[in-house]
Amino acid sequence: MTDHTQLAATIADQGGVVMLIGAPDTGKSTLAREILRQSIAKGKVAALVDADVAQSTVGPPGCVGLKWLRTSDDLTEISKADALRFVGSTNPSRLVLQMVLATAALVEQARATADLVLIDTTGAVSGVVGQTLKYHKVETCHPELVVGLQRGAELEPIIGMLQRFFSVDVTTADVHPELIPLSPDVRSEARVQQLKLALSDPLEAWRIRPTVFAPTLPTGLDLDRLAGMVVGVQDGVGACLGLGVLDYTDGVLRVLTNHGEGMQGLRLGSMRVDLSTFETKPVNLRELMFGLAL
Ligand SMILES: Nc1ncnc2c1ncn2[C@@H]1O[C@H](COP(=O)(O)OP(=O)(O)OP(=O)(O)O)[C@@H](O)[C@H]1O
Ligand SMILES: [Mg+2]
Repeated sequence: MTDHTQLAATIADQGGVVMLIGAPDTGKSTLAREILRQSIAKGKVAALVDADVAQSTVGPPGCVGLKWLRTSDDLTEISKADALRFVGSTNPSRLVLQMVLATAALVEQARATADLVLIDTTGAVSGVVGQTLKYHKVETCHPELVVGLQRGAELEPIIGMLQRFFSVDVTTADVHPELIPLSPDVRSEARVQQLKLALSDPLEAWRIRPTVFAPTLPTGLDLDRLAGMVVGVQDGVGACLGLGVLDYTDGVLRVLTNHGEGMQGLRLGSMRVDLSTFETKPVNLRELMFGLAL
């Protein structure tokens, strides 16, 4: 970490809302930990908003997570979220609106109390999706600083855009030369393990009415189609309590979850999970509800 220790110290000292950006495997999450470690060592209150829905540090995949960090124990338990917002997919390109709003809501929640709000993001930094995602995250989260980790000058287009439209301060650093990229297998295995943890036995089965969903189910929907769908178990004030999976057996619709207490409604995600392998498959909600014809 030698190269980034000083950068981390500067960010921990300055505080404010800081957004980390970079392509996949550029060391964003590693830098985030170093910044948080230093922030804690300086006696500051930090909040990590983990907006990476695919390779989550805080909370389960498919959610944006908030973690308060005041002590080194908090860093050890970084995966245990203090607050969650449901997105419903591990692929940011599918749900840009949900990603942006979930991130903005948690930044807003942390901003008043934290000395430092650090936003870790997905590796989507190019193309229409990556640029649109980052444009609206900066627009809604109002970071004082964007920190970009890059190989060569790969972030120039997105940084140029962010500076042009938001006059945001940007610091860039080179990717650490010793960084070894993670293989796709390692990434998907990490996701499987995180989902396994989020949906670990014994899951409670809660009988539910078909009227508890957002979006609302169309009348006459064959409820069997919902089996295996990942849902966000929601409280009544916009937050997600945790993940659940829908089950439809013997004509009864149930949600399997560890978060049934305080459940006020269920948000339908855009993926199914197989509870024996914890592998996920993307689902198009419009197709699920209305069939291919519409
Ligand atoms: N400074 C570094 N020196 C050596 N290895 C590093 C360094 N930073 C990160 N790594 C390693 O590189 C890999 C990717 O790092 P990290 O998860 O921080 O990247 P990321 O940009 O957050 O990736 P993703 O886009 O998947 O979220 C990890 O195995 C990590 O341990
Ligand atoms: Mg990361």
